[in-house]
Amino acid sequence: MKYNSLRGMQDIFPSNVFLWQYLESEAKRIFELFNFQEIRTPILENAEVFLRSIGEDTDIVEKEMYIFDDKKGRKIALRPEGTAGVVRAYIQNQLFNNPSPQKFYYIGAMFRYERPQKGRFRQFHQIGVESFGVSSPSVEAEMLYMLKILFESLGIKNLNFEINSIGCKDCRPNYKEAINKFLSDKISLFCNDCQRRYNRNPLRILDCKVPSCKEILKNVPQILDFLCNNCKEHLSKFQKELEILNVSHIINPRIVRGLDYYTKTVFEITTKMLGTQNAIAAGGRYDELVKAFGGPDTPAAGFAIGMERFIEVCKTNLKIEPKKPILYVAYAGKGLDREVKKVVNFFRDKKIATETPYEELSLKSQLKKADRLSVEWVVIVGEDEIKKSLYRWKNMKTGSQGVGTIEEILKIIRGENDIK
Ligand code: HAM
Repeated sequence: MKYNSLRGMQDIFPSNVFLWQYLESEAKRIFELFNFQEIRTPILENAEVFLRSIGEDTDIVEKEMYIFDDKKGRKIALRPEGTAGVVRAYIQNQLFNNPSPQKFYYIGAMFRYERPQKGRFRQFHQIGVESFGVSSPSVEAEMLYMLKILFESLGIKNLNFEINSIGCKDCRPNYKEAINKFLSDKISLFCNDCQRRYNRNPLRILDCKVPSCKEILKNVPQILDFLCNNCKEHLSKFQKELEILNVSHIINPRIVRGLDYYTKTVFEITTKMLGTQNAIAAGGRYDELVKAFGGPDTPAAGFAIGMERFIEVCKTNLKIEPKKPILYVAYAGKGLDREVKKVVNFFRDKKIATETPYEELSLKSQLKKADRLSVEWVVIVGEDEIKKSLYRWKNMKTGSQGVGTIEEILKIIRGENDIK
């Protein structure tokens, strides 16, 4: 019987994992400079955690959640995103009693039952951050600045920072009404998805990607004309902060986001390199979510980067190599097991990545293996040399070779000796 991985779920092999590790470590390094600290929440949560936060009428909850009953009949879900779990953990553990802001980052797998395509998977990975306790737009301005620093550190250019405000519970209802009015005599012209959204979540129609829907939406009322003073002020302060931080951006009034918890600021970082799935990162403010979850009134904001898309964009720029062993320890002769292990352990202990044969092989086959692994150095443990505590060494790239004590060879490998 032949097994394949599930549709939309990928294996990530060592030839790619090194890129993941590098991007993750750069993100961690930069996020920690901004005082975000790692939080790890479970992959499984009570399904309600997502239904109540992301919103019952969103695509994620309506169509894309992996939900099942556990052995006791409780509704459990694989997390489709990271924010809801962090908010649940924040409230459950009363982290609001700690000095604010509380700033977290997370890295992990998320699951959405979407139609797989380029840049869209059913298991994908996000690196995200969440910040709790501050209502000033300095928070989201700093987040965009942090993203800019991260992308620059990886040599990624040509990203668009698109921002918008989707108002708050005071001003958004007026906008929804205006949209409904605008759409009422045109709704039959929209795609099936939009027709469904019209009754339940009309704002979502705004970011429909179907060309004929986009055409009808050309003259749709703009949210920016409906913002209350508080939201207007928030947006203009946000833009001012972005200018101070030198983050070029555009206002895209069509960004509404596919999750219901946002208030005021929303943003997406997009690139032309990714085709239709063009958002590499996205986020915004969610000032009402903690309270809606039963916590105290707590302003909050965050974003998540899609790792697969991040990798795709970085791949062409990054000049880093997959990790491989530097040294191969071979043997010439029989009964040298103990000595070979000693030498291997010595080099590994000195942080030199070392490989060695696991079965009996001729020296010629061992050297062939070393060559295949493209190691830079080979050390040969031989009967004659052992008696004098000496070993043969060879640089596989330059062909130079010699005999030395283990300490001398270590120096040569480390480049602390003239020999190359
Ligand atoms: P989101 O826009 O749903 O937001 O996802 C954030 C990013 O995850 C997207 O911009 C995209 O790069 C990536 N992504 C989403 N779905 C997929 C998929 N099926 N395959 C590959 N990549 C995908 C959120 O998840 C929010 N929790 C972000 C946030 C954090 N807002 C506040 N805090």
